[in-house]
Amino acid sequence: MERLKRGRNEDGNPQRVPKPSRDGTRRAKPGGSPHDPRRDRGPDRPAAPPRQRRAFSTLGGPVELGGEAEAARTLGRLYDVERSLERALTHGFHSYAGRLHPSIARGAIAAFTAPGDTVVDPFCGSGTVLVEAMGLGRRAVGIDASPLGVAIARARTTLLGDDGCERLVTEAAGIAEEAGERARKRRRPEVPRWAKKEIARFHAHVLFELLGLRELVMAAADDPVGRALRLCLSSILVKFMKAGPSAPRDGEAKRIARGIPSRMFADRAAELARGLAALERRTPAGTPAPEVAEGDARALPMPAGSAAFVLSSPPYAGTYDYAAIHDARFLWLGLSEKAFRRLQLGARAEAVGDVAGSGWRAQQARFMAEIGRILRPGGRALLVVGDGVVDGRAENAPDGIAEAGAPAGLAPVARASQARPLHDRRLQEIFAGQPRREHLLLLEKTPA
Ligand SMILES: C[S@@+](CC[C@H](N)C(=O)[O-])C[C@H]1O[C@@H](n2cnc3c(N)ncnc32)[C@H](O)[C@@H]1O
Repeated sequence: MERLKRGRNEDGNPQRVPKPSRDGTRRAKPGGSPHDPRRDRGPDRPAAPPRQRRAFSTLGGPVELGGEAEAARTLGRLYDVERSLERALTHGFHSYAGRLHPSIARGAIAAFTAPGDTVVDPFCGSGTVLVEAMGLGRRAVGIDASPLGVAIARARTTLLGDDGCERLVTEAAGIAEEAGERARKRRRPEVPRWAKKEIARFHAHVLFELLGLRELVMAAADDPVGRALRLCLSSILVKFMKAGPSAPRDGEAKRIARGIPSRMFADRAAELARGLAALERRTPAGTPAPEVAEGDARALPMPAGSAAFVLSSPPYAGTYDYAAIHDARFLWLGLSEKAFRRLQLGARAEAVGDVAGSGWRAQQARFMAEIGRILRPGGRALLVVGDGVVDGRAENAPDGIAEAGAPAGLAPVARASQARPLHDRRLQEIFAGQPRREHLLLLEKTPA
């Protein structure tokens, strides 16, 4: 059964399939990022400029505004994103499908809250909102049904202090040295049963080296540093895949020298340590650590009226299957997908690519009811939502959110909308000439 969404990589961007060369083999392209194993190919290959990362779908273009003029203008300015934030703090640490642009999170929190306010993200995913909220001195609460999302969000927001950062870098370097050495000496670890299907995803020597790294990170302490080490391994996996929907487009042809996965693992830990140190410097003294928990946005573990602001990007109808997109990460980290598959909302139905209308609307009403319940009167919610596919038809997201929010006392205030490209032929047919847009929807909790 093909469970992974075809044509998308882990950031939800279109996956380009490598073109066969004339002799029928797949060609690798030279160049790449400083961490790119292709850089280690020797002097005979010309260096090409790094491939542009397309980690975010915020691509620019005209913005259409609606509702209360001043609030709408504020929303419109949020789409003027600061690209430099994409890898600032801990934002570049771990890919995650449907990530919110950090610049939108930062601008929204600054515009709609005051220091000390509680900001809640009931679909926090990898924790972008939480990072920005703590950096601005807000109390942050994040909930997500995905244990992977929660683990990444925790790693990105758990400050380690100077000693912890140093320990992270030193332990990662030690692990990398040992795993790299084992790989260079061609010492093969036993392939555990769970990893049998991974044989198809990686070249054999890469799989052995990654399994060696895994053995060592799994033996690390069960504390924030140990957990961060495990996430460092999870964050590099996809780079080394040769096959599968998440694999880099030149994965099959890519030659990866022994020792490169280990080196990249250590680099990733150093990058996380730098990001956490920068976040620590940015976070005002006295800001509480974000509370991050696994949970269901339809039953939030928070008292009524306890939040000043909800900032969230709920799943878009029928767009991603977060369990399928991240299945390798679940496997390698030993996380169970079972409960998540039951809870996850809006997952693109296999082969069809849409969700059933009545079910989707009922679920949307349930999470909107929870947002309405936890917001204090006059509190606001900013939801980043994209037009989706419901019952095989294009869904206008603002209409669905307005309808679902009304019984919860959530009144639309303003919106800013921007068109998103339609890469998928099926979506092009469904949207038939009309734009598919992403929206920033501002709602306000009316007093009871
Ligand atoms: C668009 S992503 C959020 C990404 C996040 N803003 C970030 O920057 O990483 C939507 C998230 O909703 C989560 N989700 C799906 N169903 C859920 C549910 N019932 N309760 C809580 N979270 C859920 C998914 O696991 C996914 O992480």
